[in-house]
Amino acid sequence: MRVVIVGAGITKFAEHWNKSFRELIVEAAVKAIESSGLKGEQIEAIYGGCMASGRLIGQEHIGALIADQLGLNPIPSTRCEAACASGGVALRTAYLAIKSGLHSIVAVGGVEKMTELSTQAVSFALGGAGDQEIELFHGATFPSLYALLARAHMHAYGTTEEQMASVAVKNHANALLNPNAQFHKEITIEDVMNSAYVAEPIKLLDCSPITDGAAALILASEDKAKELGLKGVEILASEQASDTLALSSRESLTELKATRIAAQKAYERAGIRPSDIDFAEVHDCFTIAEILAIEDLGFFKKGEGGLASEKGKTSLKGKIPINPSGGLKAKGHPVGATGVAQAVEAYMQLMGLADKRQVKNARIGLTHNVGGSGATAVVTIYKRFKG
Ligand code: COA
Repeated sequence: MRVVIVGAGITKFAEHWNKSFRELIVEAAVKAIESSGLKGEQIEAIYGGCMASGRLIGQEHIGALIADQLGLNPIPSTRCEAACASGGVALRTAYLAIKSGLHSIVAVGGVEKMTELSTQAVSFALGGAGDQEIELFHGATFPSLYALLARAHMHAYGTTEEQMASVAVKNHANALLNPNAQFHKEITIEDVMNSAYVAEPIKLLDCSPITDGAAALILASEDKAKELGLKGVEILASEQASDTLALSSRESLTELKATRIAAQKAYERAGIRPSDIDFAEVHDCFTIAEILAIEDLGFFKKGEGGLASEKGKTSLKGKIPINPSGGLKAKGHPVGATGVAQAVEAYMQLMGLADKRQVKNARIGLTHNVGGSGATAVVTIYKRFKG
């Protein structure tokens, strides 16, 4: 049974002082339902990605909250948590629910409200996605863990801080074309290089920001989509892999193994190769993460991601456009929503709805969502649904 995304919705990613967690969910979900042309009562189940609402806003039991706010009781509504990969796991779980034949129309959501707390408190909440005993307890928050990965890559392959900066410059340029992005600000290599160190060699402008936002999708079985005459984007594969929570237990610090394995399985299931991908939304929580991703996903050889970024091969008009939405770096990173937001961008690109950031001749797209410093990775591949 093929699975088709038949509707997508997203809020603006921002510091939303005037919108609550639940209002963000409803806004994204209503947009997704309206874009599908379906009615809420046709939805049979909900899977919602949310990482840290307990620590960030004191609210748990998000599955039930979503169904309640959407007026969709009593259908089953389940929260999925896998740190920053919560949205990707929610999407994959919904895909499996349709693949299994159990449901024929399912909603997927992702949400996070992060700006209610200080940066220090948010860093501590996010740090729980690493190994609490081995890393966070000793003060290692996410910028410092990715700084270790950056140092290892610089040492092994000569990757430079300027090459990392080029990722931020490109993603800020793409975000200028995305009305839902958090930052609409052009930056230069000099701006990045002159920004303050957060955890050397990672600087302020190498980091994704702290963001509020939500995204939603409506998925249907191929049969249901045909029966109702729905257009959309087919999910060719959605694969997930796991790795150690602590970086100190990894075999290698110059790759995210879970990404490599999830990607291999996804390419195999979809029956394609990396060179068949026309664009990708990858998990650039820090600029080094995008360099690792484009290598681990097989777009560039190991060690060549930094140079490829510097040479413009990942720009909107480059060999393979990476993060046309602006990515986590500039579109924003409301952690539990990110995996779903990436799929919303894949849907927009493949439906030809991406306006000024439209990738030319986009036929096959990929999204890559990472939890923590790589302990979870979800890779999903999409193609325009022909019906
Ligand atoms: N990129 C670009 N600009 C940023 C930014 C970012 N990541 N973060 C903040 N800014 C800007 C703000 O808009 C603000 O600009 P203004 O003075 O023009 O208004 C300025 O920098 C200061 O913002 P502030 O919120 O005070 O920054 P901060 O020092 O409290 O936080 C970081 C900055 C980088 C520490 C924070 O964004 C962070 O922790 N990011 C990483 C989040 C993370 O770990 N996510 C999970 C990944 S696995």
